[in-house]
Amino acid sequence: MVESGISLVRIGDFAWSRIEPDPGHLAWNWLDRAIGTLAEAGLQIVMCTPTATPPKWLVDQSPDILAVGADGQPRRFGSRRHYDFSSPRYFAAAQRIVTEVAGRYGRHPAVSAWQTDNEYGCHDTVVSYSAAAASRFRLWLRERYGTAAALNQAWGTVFWGGEYRDFDEIDPPIGTVTEAHPAHRLDYRRFASDEVVRFNRMQVEILRQHCPGRLLLHNFMQFFTGFDHYEVAAALDVAAWDSYPLGALERFWLDPAVKQRWLRTGHPDFPAFHHDLYRGMSKQPFWVMEQQPGPVNWAPWNPAPLPGMVRLWTWEAFAHGAGVVSYFRWRQCPFGQEQMHAGLRTPDDRLDVGGEEASRVAAELKGVPVAPAARADVALLFDYDAQWLLEIHPHGADFSYLRLAFEYYSALRALGLDVDVLPASAPLDGYRMVVIPSLPVVPPDLPDRLERSRACAVVGPRSGSKTETVQIPDGLPPGRLRALLPLRVWRVESLRPDVTEAVSFAGNAYRARQWRELVRAEAGVEVEGTYGTGEPAIVKSGRVRYLTGVFDAALHAAVLSRAAEEAGLAVLRLPDGLRVRRRGALRFAFNYGPDPIDAPSPPGAAFLVGAKRLGVADVAIWKE
Ligand code: GAL
Repeated sequence: MVESGISLVRIGDFAWSRIEPDPGHLAWNWLDRAIGTLAEAGLQIVMCTPTATPPKWLVDQSPDILAVGADGQPRRFGSRRHYDFSSPRYFAAAQRIVTEVAGRYGRHPAVSAWQTDNEYGCHDTVVSYSAAAASRFRLWLRERYGTAAALNQAWGTVFWGGEYRDFDEIDPPIGTVTEAHPAHRLDYRRFASDEVVRFNRMQVEILRQHCPGRLLLHNFMQFFTGFDHYEVAAALDVAAWDSYPLGALERFWLDPAVKQRWLRTGHPDFPAFHHDLYRGMSKQPFWVMEQQPGPVNWAPWNPAPLPGMVRLWTWEAFAHGAGVVSYFRWRQCPFGQEQMHAGLRTPDDRLDVGGEEASRVAAELKGVPVAPAARADVALLFDYDAQWLLEIHPHGADFSYLRLAFEYYSALRALGLDVDVLPASAPLDGYRMVVIPSLPVVPPDLPDRLERSRACAVVGPRSGSKTETVQIPDGLPPGRLRALLPLRVWRVESLRPDVTEAVSFAGNAYRARQWRELVRAEAGVEVEGTYGTGEPAIVKSGRVRYLTGVFDAALHAAVLSRAAEEAGLAVLRLPDGLRVRRRGALRFAFNYGPDPIDAPSPPGAAFLVGAKRLGVADVAIWKE
């Protein structure tokens, strides 16, 4: 490892069955030896709490630690993440094992960081319908609403005669004949998210006590929205994430043609989106805790990355401000569920392609002095609650908040803009442009924050369309945003995938798809784009634009680029496969495309890595 240029090793993520092979019998020898070996070689260690996999004896002893699915069945032992965040017995068991591990290694000089659990929520494990979850949900509701009457009022349970006399009457929203009440469903998602926050905090409190001065982190996932990541990250020092660009490409919504195009590189905006998201919630520079090193095992198809991509992905993380890039995994494991998952080394312990590339970056890094990442000019607001609400009430089968947010982000990146992804509660002062792909529930102070920032804002459809308890706001959407956008969305419609509507903007023709709103604008609101019928499609009031539909990529790009230019930002028109990023005085370019291409560097630029001409899957770094 040391010879490969590695300096940090993560261990222990699923080790409970070895640490405590029998109840109460702790076996430290093997782990002492492993830590000793790594420490002696001068390697730093990230130790994990082993709570993602409670051992079989614990499950047998306390079957109520298992989470329960929407089918009412407990999850079975035999894979991972089978525990219930709400189980009091599991909470206590986790407290005990975390205390033991932290007590043993918390002050070890080589253990410099701790990871809580592993990938909260992986395999759809945030929401549980156990008896413990039901009873904690009732407590959660009581705290939020105070009385059942207040809850009935807030939710609007009188609809279909769903009123409750007491919190004890309220069950989790499953097993109903047809759709359960949307406010009930949304609150259950919020409650489940809070349970993750609570479980993580419990671990953090123990770790802070036993591991003074060590960085605490969690490895979050890609395109995953099952809980509020901002709130979990708030307790940690580092938000880390696990980057599997090719696995993600195969798994997510992209069209087959898009998947084919980026088959061996991944989508050019995919890692960047997550770097920018996790950077924003991390107190210290964010980390990539698991970087895909070769083919994975878990996507429907598992192609190999193009030679060069492991190096490119690694450099791109540093360009976006990463403090650490670590790989999953060191050596391909010849047994178990992930035996087909590549490592930096092959199962017979020879260097694999990814291993060579990781070493190359380690060597290159020595010649590139990276400064802390600076604030970007553009903020994109990303909101977990919005995802849950629009999942519960999509109104059109393929309406996806996450997809829309990613499309806006992608359009900004193609304009060469650096982006900070932030929560809807973030201070906006200093941003030149604020982009809100959609935000059904608008925080009361957001219009003020937007106004004060003097940023040019681009606001997407369905923003301000609901109250906190999923009702249509007084005065109709955009609700609280009417302070900035004096208009009234009087009708919305969703469109089948094979239906689009014409939109014209700045003399060019585009299409709307999936979603369209009809608005009445008050005097003074400028109509910048119209539907074929003449109805307003894009409107503007002061510095704020509102998009009344989901549009094709070209129209999103055209509107965002007009706003960016008004904000005084330098806009590039990058080809599809080329992406750029600034970090301090350093400029980075990445070639995701199929052909060599020139970096947009000024004449005479001094290159620290690469050259103006980028090969395929290549990286260039120069100083401004
Ligand atoms: C992550 C997980 C690892 C491993 C990896 C495989 O989800 O944290 O334990 O399963 O994926 O790609």
